[in-house]
Amino acid sequence: MKLTEPRTLAPPERRSARVTAVERLGAYVLIGAHDSDGPPDPRPGQFYMLSTAGRWGGGADERPYLPRAFSHARAREGELSFLLEAVGPGTTRLAELESGEALELVGPLGIGWRAARDGTRPLLVGGGIGAAPLLCLQDELGADAEALLGFRSADHAQAAALFAGIPAVATDDGSVGRQALVTDLLREQLDADPATTVFACGPPPMLEAVRLLCAELAVPAQLALESGMACGFGACFGCVVPTRDGYIRLCVDGPVLEADALASAVFPGAGH
Ligand SMILES: Cc1cc2nc3c(=O)[nH]c(=O)nc-3n(C[C@H](O)[C@H](O)[C@H](O)COP(=O)(O)OP(=O)(O)OC[C@H]3O[C@@H](n4cnc5c(N)ncnc54)[C@H](O)[C@@H]3O)c2cc1C
Ligand code: FES
Repeated sequence: MKLTEPRTLAPPERRSARVTAVERLGAYVLIGAHDSDGPPDPRPGQFYMLSTAGRWGGGADERPYLPRAFSHARAREGELSFLLEAVGPGTTRLAELESGEALELVGPLGIGWRAARDGTRPLLVGGGIGAAPLLCLQDELGADAEALLGFRSADHAQAAALFAGIPAVATDDGSVGRQALVTDLLREQLDADPATTVFACGPPPMLEAVRLLCAELAVPAQLALESGMACGFGACFGCVVPTRDGYIRLCVDGPVLEADALASAVFPGAGH
């Protein structure tokens, strides 16, 4: 296990990376970009604020002016990849990028995954696009780090192929893997071996279910959370979320938080 310092500092300004590959993966798009001016070692669980140089706001149908936050899915020798689903104007525009175009970015930002508790095995738990920051975590931990992945459908479950080994997959419609919630798979795993640290990312209700289950079984868990982020580096306070110790800015003190720090992983009114 190499995880030590989970924060790599970002260069202080926006820069351009060159898009090197765009791959459709069912419901998702995997964008590769060569970030020659950025640090080569973003920590798994950190994120970047992304935008495009052209057609990023300015017209009635072009709402984004602010960049959008994305975890890097992989980082290898200056080559970053981002896994995204087109759910709104920003993600739709990013999904239209082509090889050779510029991807504007700021990052890496935030604090990523911390090391697993001593004497426990890491278990990665992803829901939908929440698989993204678990990919680079598995790259770092090694293929032995098992992944449990939940998806809506077979189209979304294509992202499972990016993981090493054979991740356990659950789908809502049973079209791939088990027809179950990923938290059903998690409960079975924790019942079998509670000496586990859980690393989870996914939609807020899934993260809340993971938090409650891990609290019930006294299993340490880290949750990568989402909140609406306007700046990504602590200036706007748009991303504040409540913790047991008061409000924090998720972009600088997260996005990965210890589950114990939270009274809930669902933040009414925050983000989406
Ligand atoms: C730290 C961090 C890391 C993130 N990493 C990733 C990542 O790796 N890949 C990725 O695809 N996204 C990621 N996101 C989420 C992404 O930043 C948002 O989905 C983004 O706001 C989308 O921008 P947009 O302009 O396309 O849509 P917006 O204008 O922000 O939203 C448009 C509409 O889409 C809905 N919407 C927004 N997000 C979602 C969603 N996730 N699912 C369903 N509906 C949604 C909104 O409710 C709204 O109705 C991350 C967010 C954070 C904070
Ligand atoms: S996004 Fe601006 S302070 Fe966190």
